[in-house]
Amino acid sequence: MYRTKNCGELRKSDEGKNVTLSGWIHKYRNLGGLVFFDLRDRYGITQIIFDPNSLGENIMETANRCRNEYVVTISGTVRVKPEPNKNLSTGEIEIAADNIFIENASKTPPFNFLDGKSDSKEDLRLQYRYIDLRSAKMTQNLLVRHKVTMAVRNYLSEKGFIEIETPTFSKSTPEGARDYLVPCRIFPGTFFALPQSPQIYKQLLMVAGQDKYFQIARCYRDEDARGDRQPEFTQIDIETSFPSQDEIFELTEELMKKSFSQGINVEIQTPFIRIPYLEAMEDYGVDKPDIRFGLKLKNITDVTRNSGFKVFADAQAVKFLAVGGLENLSRKQIGEYEDYAKHLGAKGLAFVKVTGGKLEGGISKFLSEPEIDEILAKSELKGDGIVFFAADKLSLANKVLGNLRNRIAKELKLYREDDYRFCFIVDFPMFEFSEEENRWQAMHHMFTMPKPEFLEDMKKGENLENILGQLYDLVLNGVELSSGSIRIHDSALQEKVFSILGMSKEEYENKFGFMLNAFKYGAPPHGGIAHGLDRMIMLMCHEETIRDVIAFPKTKNQNCLMMDAPSEVSPEQLEELSISIVKEK
Ligand code: AMO
Ligand code: AMP
Repeated sequence: MYRTKNCGELRKSDEGKNVTLSGWIHKYRNLGGLVFFDLRDRYGITQIIFDPNSLGENIMETANRCRNEYVVTISGTVRVKPEPNKNLSTGEIEIAADNIFIENASKTPPFNFLDGKSDSKEDLRLQYRYIDLRSAKMTQNLLVRHKVTMAVRNYLSEKGFIEIETPTFSKSTPEGARDYLVPCRIFPGTFFALPQSPQIYKQLLMVAGQDKYFQIARCYRDEDARGDRQPEFTQIDIETSFPSQDEIFELTEELMKKSFSQGINVEIQTPFIRIPYLEAMEDYGVDKPDIRFGLKLKNITDVTRNSGFKVFADAQAVKFLAVGGLENLSRKQIGEYEDYAKHLGAKGLAFVKVTGGKLEGGISKFLSEPEIDEILAKSELKGDGIVFFAADKLSLANKVLGNLRNRIAKELKLYREDDYRFCFIVDFPMFEFSEEENRWQAMHHMFTMPKPEFLEDMKKGENLENILGQLYDLVLNGVELSSGSIRIHDSALQEKVFSILGMSKEEYENKFGFMLNAFKYGAPPHGGIAHGLDRMIMLMCHEETIRDVIAFPKTKNQNCLMMDAPSEVSPEQLEELSISIVKEK
C-alpha cells in the first residue's frame, strides 16, 4: 500500500499510530547520521526522522541515498514533537520512520520553489511548470480556483441555471479581437474560428427556450497578451430570458458573495454601488475605477477658458488631481511623474504645491485669483499637498490623471490588498466613433439593447453619440471583471445596428444571417453577463498576473515554453489541409 494517510492530516491525537505516507522529499537534511526530511504532497508537509541507533543498515543506506524531490513511501510511528513547529499544520508531530522505499529518483530541480514563493525567472517556471505547480503558492491558487468554480456551479444550479456546452469549432464571433482559425481538411480552403466567447450560442439558447444557461467557458482571442490577458481564458458565462438589469445585478452580487466566501473565506459587502459611465470618467478618469480610495479628479475647464496660462487656455479640458501630504515631493520625483504622463501621451504635467492654504511653485505664478480659488475649493485637501494638472483633449486628460491616480495610490499605499470593493458601471454609450477607422464602433458588442428612451433615435440612426445602452461592467479594485447587457431580440433593430456599424446587408447576412433568422422565430427578451474567472482568481490570490492562477498559461509572447508550442507541422499535414506556407524573406 502506498499510503494510509496524507502529508497534511496527522495531529497530536494520532500519537502512537503506525502510518504509511507517500510523497516528495522536501528539504532533505543529514545531521551526523540522523536523517531528517519533510515529506510533501498537495495536502501539506510532515517531518520524518530516520535514527541510525534504532534502524538497520539497509534502511539507513536507502535514507542516505535520498535527495530533494525524490518520490518515496515511508512507514513509521507518529510521535509528539518536544517543540511544535508553528508554521506547519502537522507541526505538533513527526514520524519516527521504520521503513522507506524509493518510488522514483529526481534530478535537482532547475529552480528553488521550496519556500512557497518561487524566486526564479518566469520563463524557467513556465518551462518546468510541473515543478512550479508543486509550490505551496501555486497549489493554493489552483485550489482557490477549484473552490470558486464549485461555488459557481452549485449556486447557479440552485437558482435553476443549467450548464450547457457550446462548440469550440465555430464561426467568427464579434468580440472585437482577432480570431484563431482552424483549417478544415474536408472543405479545403475553409476554416473554423475558435469562439472569442459563447455570445451567439447563448443568445440562440434563449431562442431555444433554455431560459437560464451558464457555462464555465473557454474563450480564445488573438490579441496582444498582457498581465491580465491570455489568448485562451475562462469566462463564467451566463444568459437568462425575461430578465431585468436589476435581476442580473442581484444574481451577480450573490454569485460574487458565494465565490469569495467559499473560495477565500471573505465576506463581501452587497449591494455593489452603481456608477454611470460618464460619472466614472469624470471622477476617476477611467471606466474601471478603483474605489478603495478617494483622490477624485476635478474639472476646472470653466475657469481656465480665459486663463493667462496659455497651456490651459488652449486646451479642450483642464483637470487636476490633488494629493494630500505630498507637498515635499522633490523636483526629481515630480519629473518622474511628468515623464510618466508624457509616456501616456500628455504634453506635460503642470503642478502647484499647496502650503498653508496658498498655492506655491510650479505654475502658480501664471494663475489668476479665480483660478486659484476654484482649485482650492475643489481640491478637498485637508492640509498641505500637491496638485497635478492635465490640459488636453478630455479623453487624454482623463487617461493621464486616471493612471497617475492609481500609481500614486499604490506608492502611498492608500488601500489594502484584501479590501474588495466592487462597483457596477452602468449607462455606457452604445457607440463610439473610431477616428482611426472613420466609423462608428460598438462600445461593448453589437447585440446590446439601447435604453428605452433612446430607441427612437436608434431606429432613425440619429444622435448616435448620445445613445446609452442597457450595458454594464462589473469592476473590482480597478480591474474589469465582467461585462454584459440586455440584448436586442428583434431582427429589424439588430439589422439597424449592423448598418450603423457600417456593414452592408450582404455582409451582415453573410456573417449573422442565421441569427437574424432565428430572431424571426419567437426570440424572447434576454440578457446576461460574463465574468472573467481568471481575473477573479487573480484578485482573490493577490497575484499580479492571471498567469499565476492558470495551470498551463502561455507566456507574454503567447507561446508555451513547456511544450514548445506553437510549432511547425509536417509537410504531409499541410498537404492534407491544402495549406502552403509562404515564408517571409
Ligand atoms: P467581454 O469581452 O467584456 O464580454 O469579456 C468578459 C470578461 O472576460 C474577461 N476577459 C479576459 N480575461 C483574460 N484574458 C482575456 N484575453 C480576456 N478578455 C476578456 C474579462 C471581461 O470582463 N460575450 C460578452 C459578455 C456578455 O455580454 O455576456 C463578453 O465576452 O474579465
Ligand atoms: P511650458 O510652458 O511648456 O514650459 O510648461 C510649463 C509647465 O506646464 C510644465 O510643468 C509642463 O510640464 C506643463 N505642461 C505643458 N503642457 C501641458 C499640458 N498639456 N497639460 C498639463 N501640463 C502641461
